[in-house]
Amino acid sequence: MTNHLSLKIPSSLLALGFALAWSPAGATPAAEPLAGVIDTALATSAKQYGWMLAHLPADAARPLPRTFEHGKLVTIPTRDWTSGFFPGSLWYLFEATGDAQWRASAEKFTALLAPEQHNTKTHDVGFILYCSYGNGLRLTGNPAYRPVLLTGAKSLSTRFNPTVGCIKSWDHGVGQFTFPVIIDNMMNLELMMWAAREDPTGPYRNISLRHADTTILNHFRPDDSTVHVVDYDPATGRVIKRVTHQGTADSSAWARGQAWGLYGYTVMYRETKDPRYLAQAQKIAAFVMNHPRLPADKVPYWDFDDVKIPDAPRDSSAAAIICSALLELRGYVDAATAAGYRAFAEAQLRSLASPAYLAEPGTNGGFILKHATGNHPKNSEIDVPINYGDYYFLEALLRARGVK
Ligand code: GLY
Repeated sequence: MTNHLSLKIPSSLLALGFALAWSPAGATPAAEPLAGVIDTALATSAKQYGWMLAHLPADAARPLPRTFEHGKLVTIPTRDWTSGFFPGSLWYLFEATGDAQWRASAEKFTALLAPEQHNTKTHDVGFILYCSYGNGLRLTGNPAYRPVLLTGAKSLSTRFNPTVGCIKSWDHGVGQFTFPVIIDNMMNLELMMWAAREDPTGPYRNISLRHADTTILNHFRPDDSTVHVVDYDPATGRVIKRVTHQGTADSSAWARGQAWGLYGYTVMYRETKDPRYLAQAQKIAAFVMNHPRLPADKVPYWDFDDVKIPDAPRDSSAAAIICSALLELRGYVDAATAAGYRAFAEAQLRSLASPAYLAEPGTNGGFILKHATGNHPKNSEIDVPINYGDYYFLEALLRARGVK
């Protein structure tokens, strides 16, 4: 067993990162400096994932942890849409610490996902490969990771329909959907835009831009919230219906959907500098940040329109995704707007790093955050930890630290 229980971050680096990331904004000084909050949260996360690695059952068919539900660790095969997040979190812990043990673990779990580069049956190949191989390439430059990512992008591109102008999300739901596109799919464009830089003669940039443009046109409502699923006629590109799959109603604002949209358009602005993508990200940010049913701790209910609010479950994963996205988005806007995004993200980070959401080491099945909601309508993964909540929380901590 490897020992992942220590976390060594040079204090000089921390001080520099914090100073850059959190320079004065006129805010009331908080009880504990944010630097200390981040430091403690990273150390706790490292302890948890060290515990997780030590307790993860060796199961070749289901080698990766997804959640801890009904008192049991749920493990998944590599084809599960969430399979990239655990390796990605290990890469972030390597980035946070520089500790070669984290790198070795990240490499081991990343390697398991190699078969998914050939997966043409889902849009999730972007999530799966970019969180794992993408971070691995970024942090190590390992040349063997590049062709895996390129093959993955090629597999993903087979799902693009030029008449619709989108990548098809799911093949399942035959009879219910014809050509479903979910807002989550915006997240897969990060892999495509990486591929566009690697292979400018390929179709990746055009596919990404068409997908992002079509989604702006058809997914968003007048109040700037996003629908979960738009179903298209692949022969004509006509919208057949706008419905939900994981929200409380077709007309509701499913919290994680808003988070995926915010993050996705922030990435698309980073990659293109097209002001329409920045505007879209800012509209989603405003919808979320000003929502009258956003709780005071800024961790949303799983759906902004659940009639059971304030007794509805929260979704800490949505908060982590929003927090990380805002920490990037603040770099693209004027100083006053940036200060607002920063303050909101800081409030979220402090909430998530508090005992209300951050698990005690050795509890929570080894996961970092408590209180996420996976699929409420299916009565699945309600008020549980989820691997993607941990991944975006670690990313947000690194971004707040000024490292990533
Ligand atoms: N992409 C599926 C989810 O967010 O639950």
